[in-house]
Amino acid sequence: MMRAIFMNISLNDGLLAELECDALVIPLDDGVSVGKEVDLQVAAMRKSGEVTGKLGEMTILHEPRELAASRLMLMGVDDALDANHAFRMAGQAVRAAQKRKFRRLAIALGDGQLIRAVAEGCAYGGYERPKYKSDDSASIVEEILIVAPGADTVAFESGRIVGESVNLTRRLVDTPANDLGPVEFADMAESMGKAAGLEVDVLDEPALEALGAGSLLSVAKGSARPPRLVRLSWDPDHVAGDSHLFLVGKGVTFDTGGLSLKPANSMEKMKYDMAGAATMLGAIIAIARLGIPQHVSCLLGLVENMPSGTATRPGDIVQAMNGKTIEVINTDAEGRLVLADALTYAVRQGATHLIDAATLTGAVSIALGAVNIGLMSNNESLQSHITASGREIGEQFWALPMNDEYLEPMKGDLSDLRNAGTDRKAGTITAAKFLEQFVDDTPWAHLDIAGTANLDKGLPNAPKGASGIAVRSLVRAVETWANGGLE
Ligand code: BES
Ligand code: MN
Ligand code: ZN
Repeated sequence: MMRAIFMNISLNDGLLAELECDALVIPLDDGVSVGKEVDLQVAAMRKSGEVTGKLGEMTILHEPRELAASRLMLMGVDDALDANHAFRMAGQAVRAAQKRKFRRLAIALGDGQLIRAVAEGCAYGGYERPKYKSDDSASIVEEILIVAPGADTVAFESGRIVGESVNLTRRLVDTPANDLGPVEFADMAESMGKAAGLEVDVLDEPALEALGAGSLLSVAKGSARPPRLVRLSWDPDHVAGDSHLFLVGKGVTFDTGGLSLKPANSMEKMKYDMAGAATMLGAIIAIARLGIPQHVSCLLGLVENMPSGTATRPGDIVQAMNGKTIEVINTDAEGRLVLADALTYAVRQGATHLIDAATLTGAVSIALGAVNIGLMSNNESLQSHITASGREIGEQFWALPMNDEYLEPMKGDLSDLRNAGTDRKAGTITAAKFLEQFVDDTPWAHLDIAGTANLDKGLPNAPKGASGIAVRSLVRAVETWANGGLE
């Protein structure tokens, strides 16, 4: 069911007027001249106000004069074409072309500055969801030519690589849980990781028992499908500095809630509860393929949360890898139980910095909707580095407070900790305070992507379903990581 078909995107330096294609895409006001007649026509449409140039606006002209292209697609990009607008514009153009069954698309830019964002955007817009319909007709745009004077081929390739990694993340998230359990996810991570040049180590149930991962294992107990903890490492010969970042992902391949069963309404959405793991896998694959000179590892905590005769009961007390005991108040607060051991393991493996991503709480959608990723950290510079990286490429993070008082509801009575408080107040933050108990003093940031990893409605550049959010920001953050880490 998993397919890795990537469209053929290339740089081209041909004459715009002579490009034979189903559509030639022009971002408005980016200084592209397509020919005297057409330029005049576009100027007239702008002047009359029929074409406003707003981001998201798309105007298609048929049989444009003096051009070999069959159509001209004019794309609004607001006042200026920044990286974020370029990404969205390119993706929208590709998606529109796909819907119209165009085979060959050309995109003309004024210059090569934003080539990476455009390449990323093209790949993103060309995402194909896993195919389950019986009339499985391929609708892919076969070829995209980008004409961008002075474009750097390395930047172009980088954009393609990152876009493809985001799509890998999305495809995993969109795949139903019957086809993607912990073992299937681990196998996929192993083969994709190795192909990208990563070292991969898969820990099975006995290995996790030997490590004392009682917290993670307590979630897996209810399922017939065994858990996995996957480690992927990128350790290039020449690294800048001696920091070792760990990217840790929540990979609950399906979350029924366990014995604290979720209501039937919308439970099918919980196939996306492995989005944190898919995000981190996509990020480290991109980091390896880009050859970024930083030591980075990734840990994927893969389990299925099911109710059964062998499932953990509310009230059970389990012991985490770091020795702390946890009373399982609510088996639906399983993500933190998985991450607890994965974070401990990362610290033991020598992490100098930690970032985790998880669809951890419903509460983060209440607080931030689908607009911002919830960001919680014990380290100001790591926090602002992530926020700034997101801002560069158009993904938004909002830092939530982490006062000690928020830990109170997570303190145990009979045990050290409990996995849920007595009420829902500040649920996103209390979950993060719980996680913090497993990172020692390692600089750490937690991304709650429960509100942002899945699109309830399609966007101009994406169908509904997995958004692939945070992959691009994380890759950016690692690329711009200061030598020796952050201070
Ligand atoms: N995977 C869910 C988070 C979630 C819930 C995402 C609803 C999207 C929509 C997580 O495992 C969960 O169930 N969290 C509970 C925690 C609570 C029991 C303390 C929640 O948010 O309700
Ligand atoms: Mn849950
Ligand atoms: Zn969950």
